[in-house]
Amino acid sequence: MKVLVLGSGGREHALAWKIAQSPQCDKLLIAPGNAGTAQVGTNLALAVNDFAAIAETIRQQQIDMLVVGPEDPLVNGIYDYLRQEAGLQDLLIIGPDAAGAQLEGSKDFAKHFMQQNNIPTAAARTFVSGQEEEAYRYIATQTPPIVVKADGLAAGKGVIIAQSQEEAKEAVHSMLVDEKFAAAGKKLLIEQFLEGIELSVFVLTDGLDYKILPEAKDYKRIGEQDTGPNTGGMGAVSPVPFATSDFMQKVETRIVKPTLAGLRQAGSHYAGFIFIGLMNVQGDPYVIEYNVRMGDPETQVVMPRLQTDLLALLTATATGKLKDVDLQVAPQTATTVVAVAGGYPGQYEKGHVIQGLEQASEALVFHAGTKADGDRILTNGGRVLAATGLGSDIEAALAQSYRTLAQISWPGIYYRQDIGRDLLS
Ligand code: AMP
Ligand code: GLY
Repeated sequence: MKVLVLGSGGREHALAWKIAQSPQCDKLLIAPGNAGTAQVGTNLALAVNDFAAIAETIRQQQIDMLVVGPEDPLVNGIYDYLRQEAGLQDLLIIGPDAAGAQLEGSKDFAKHFMQQNNIPTAAARTFVSGQEEEAYRYIATQTPPIVVKADGLAAGKGVIIAQSQEEAKEAVHSMLVDEKFAAAGKKLLIEQFLEGIELSVFVLTDGLDYKILPEAKDYKRIGEQDTGPNTGGMGAVSPVPFATSDFMQKVETRIVKPTLAGLRQAGSHYAGFIFIGLMNVQGDPYVIEYNVRMGDPETQVVMPRLQTDLLALLTATATGKLKDVDLQVAPQTATTVVAVAGGYPGQYEKGHVIQGLEQASEALVFHAGTKADGDRILTNGGRVLAATGLGSDIEAALAQSYRTLAQISWPGIYYRQDIGRDLLS
């Protein structure tokens, strides 16, 4: 099979790395990719939202399967676009249609979806531009912390956990009046704060059947002990000790099954990943958000634990045959630690030479913001790369991740030293 993976992050390197191991993979292209994906396949200079160029490439290269890594093209309707293109009716596509992608594209849509399908989630109210005064009056009835969320895609920055009513009002003002998130924030949700521990649950569905992939815990803040601003993710661990079989049973019964039933009822075509971001509130799962793709950096710990051929699994997903697949998962623990450019998630420099990559062979190194320059590899983004260890327990895996990162350097490199520590005791 010939496969095209869209995207350029650590998630896409991990997906491409796993697909490349399949005996069924004859050719692997990644667009636009990074210096890491170029080691397992061929990069193509294509933008993920340039649907016309993507369609043309798929025809020219006779691609059999498209795996859409990030949410943007899905929310923008890449599935529907390619389906009506000449010659692409048989293309296997991993990712939902635009209707299904609304689960991530609109938090208001997702909230209504959960309410209609009795899926546990935080109580919320929606307000649009012009309803500032109503929003302020509503805030006055709420006890902080108060969660304010932009409705649309905001690259992970659209959620504000306000510690006072005043701060919540400012957040509302910044979105509805100052249009801080442009169109994405002209509608917003004011939501009840859920107290608990977060978990990322991944489901692969062919629209009818499903497989629950290994779960993971993600570390979103830049600073140790979960301090400072949010990032795209600073590390991940899988499996997660508090995701017991009892808890995962609740997730499956209360969330996964009604989510898939709701999608079918809504008539959306959904063959792909569903990433459920949830909160464990005293043993009960509540959905914080849906994503219609894999998580980053979670993919970098999920893929190394997957023993089933990923390309076979994805083929079954796109052809409605998931029920015939036996999912095999390694019992080992995987940890990934993300190394970032100094200054990230604020301003940072690009173009520094990354040293030590050749020696760093103990853990798997997944690239994100990297770029090849002759035989050198340069930093090319905020999150630069991640080191994934695989061991008999969290400590063994972490030791590999950190020993590997200790061999890698560039000016300003930073990574958290406490990934997974909270799960040890
Ligand atoms: P989201 O973009 O929806 O994933 O939100 C970003 C982060 O905000 C989540 O990962 C949570 O840490 C936090 N968050 C979002 N909604 C809530 C909520 N209702 N209660 C507590 N924390 C939340
Ligand atoms: N790790 C969170 C995300 O991918 O959105």
